[in-house]
Amino acid sequence: MYNEIDLDIIDINSEPPTEEPFRQYYFMAKCRRWVKDFEQKNGRLPKSFVLNMGCQMNARDSEKLIGILINIGYEMAENEGQADFVILNTCTVRDNANQKVYGRLGELNGYKRHHPNMIIALCGCMMQEQAVIEKLQKSYSFINLIFGTHNIFKFPELLNTVYETKSARNQMVIDIWKDTDKIVEELPIERKYPFKSGINIMFGCNNFCSYCIVPYVRGRERSRKPEEIIQEIKGLVEDGVVEVMLLGQNVNSYGKTLDKPVSFAELLREVEKIQGLKRIRFMTSHPKDLSDELIEVMKQSHKICRHLHLPLQSGSTQILTQMNRRYTKEQYVELALRIRKEIPDIAITTDIIVGFPGESREDLEETLDVVRTVKFDNAFTFIYSKRTGTPAAVMENQAPEDQIKEGFDRLLRLVQETARQQISKYQGSIMEALIEEINENDQTMVTGRLSNNTIVHLPGDASLIGKLVQVSLDECKGFYYLGHSVS
Ligand code: 5AD
Ligand code: SF4
Repeated sequence: MYNEIDLDIIDINSEPPTEEPFRQYYFMAKCRRWVKDFEQKNGRLPKSFVLNMGCQMNARDSEKLIGILINIGYEMAENEGQADFVILNTCTVRDNANQKVYGRLGELNGYKRHHPNMIIALCGCMMQEQAVIEKLQKSYSFINLIFGTHNIFKFPELLNTVYETKSARNQMVIDIWKDTDKIVEELPIERKYPFKSGINIMFGCNNFCSYCIVPYVRGRERSRKPEEIIQEIKGLVEDGVVEVMLLGQNVNSYGKTLDKPVSFAELLREVEKIQGLKRIRFMTSHPKDLSDELIEVMKQSHKICRHLHLPLQSGSTQILTQMNRRYTKEQYVELALRIRKEIPDIAITTDIIVGFPGESREDLEETLDVVRTVKFDNAFTFIYSKRTGTPAAVMENQAPEDQIKEGFDRLLRLVQETARQQISKYQGSIMEALIEEINENDQTMVTGRLSNNTIVHLPGDASLIGKLVQVSLDECKGFYYLGHSVS
C-alpha cells in the first residue's frame, strides 16, 4: 500500500518528482521536517483539528486530510481551541452552510489572537466560489491557506508552501482549480471507523439541477476505474472493514464516461464478490438513472443493504421540470412503488426542497401526496436557498416567506409521521445490526445500524464494536429502537 511509503527515505534535497501521488509523498516528507522543528522548539508534537462541515463526500475528504496530517506527524486535537492547525472543510449547498463558516472564522480569529502561530486553512465546496475567495482575501487576512475540491490531493505541497512562506505576515496561500479530469488517489487516509469506510467511485456531477451549486463546485462527472475501486475495497477488507459506502453525486450514472463503460449494477456485482466484505451501501441515486438492472442486483444481493436514498426534491411535475430533474411525479411514484414491491424490506429515504421559485400551494400538495403514497422511511427537508450562478437564482415568483414556512412545517410533520409508521413496522422482529459505537449517553449500551439504516441501542460493551449482531427490536422509540442481542 502507498500508505506504507517510508517518508524518511525520501531525499527532500532533490527536485520534487512530477508524477502523482509520489510528488505529494515528497512534500509530506518535507512537511515532516517542519513538524520535527516544531517538536524541538515546543517539546511536543503539533496538534491539528479538521472540521467537516458537509456531506459524506466532504467527510471522506476530511479523512484524506487527516491521513496526511497523521503521516507527517501531527496529533489530532479534540477541538479548534487546542489546535495549532485548523482546517475548515466547507460546504456551500445552502446559504446557511456558508454562514456557519463565517461564524467559525470569527471564533478562530479570537483563538489566533492568543496563539499567533496557529495555522488556519479552508477547503471544500465553498472555496470554489470566486465571490467567497474575494471576501476572504479582503476581510479575513488571518487565514493561511485556501484550496478547493479539485486539488485536495495537493494538500502536502500546499502545506509545505505555507511553512516556507509563513514568516511573511499576512501571506495567504491560495490555490483553486476551476475543474479537473485528474483523479489522484493512493494517499494516506485515516478512517473514522476501523470497520466501515466510504469509497469514492466517482467525482463531480453533470446533472445541473437548476437550484444546485454542486456541478459548479465539484466539476464534471468522472468515474474511477472499476479495478481500482475493487482493489481499494479489497485492501480495506484486509484492514478489517466489513461495510463500505460507495460514494458519488449520482452513482446511477457511474461508469458512463469510462473508456470501457461499465454500469453501476455491474460494479456492484463485482463488489459483491469480495470475500470478507459483509455490507454494501451507496449514495446518492438520481431517480432518472435508476435502472431495472440495479433493482435486480439489489434484489438478489446478500450484501447490499436494504436502503435506497432516492431524492424526490418535489412532487409537482411542473416544479420538477423547472428544477431540471427530468422525471415526472408519476414516474417517481411508479419507480418507488416498484422498488418496494420487488424488495419489500427496503427503506426508501429522500430529500425534498420547499419554496423553489414558482412553487404554489397546489405544488406543495403534490409533494405531500407523494410522501403519503411512497411512505418514506426518512426524509431530509430543506427550504430552498438561492445559490448565485445557478439557473434558479434568476427565477422569480418565490412564494412569501410565511407561506414557505407553513408548507415546510406541514411537510415536516407528515414526513415524521410516515417515518415513524414505517420504522415501527419492525417492532418485535430480529434483525442484524452492525455495532458502531458505545452509546453517547449510557456507557453500558452500544449503538448499531440495521441494514435498512435504522439505529438500534442495546446493552453491550466495546468488544461488540465492528461486529454484526442479531438484535431483537424490542421497543420502537420513534426514529430508533431499543433492543437486545440474541446472537
Ligand atoms: N436549496 C435547498 N436545498 C438544496 N439542495 C441542493 N441545493 C439546494 C438549494 N439551493 C438539497 C437537495 C439535495 C440535498 C443534498 O441538498 O435536496 O438533494
Ligand atoms: Fe445537485 Fe442534481 Fe447533481 Fe444532485 S444530481 S448534485 S442535486 S445537480
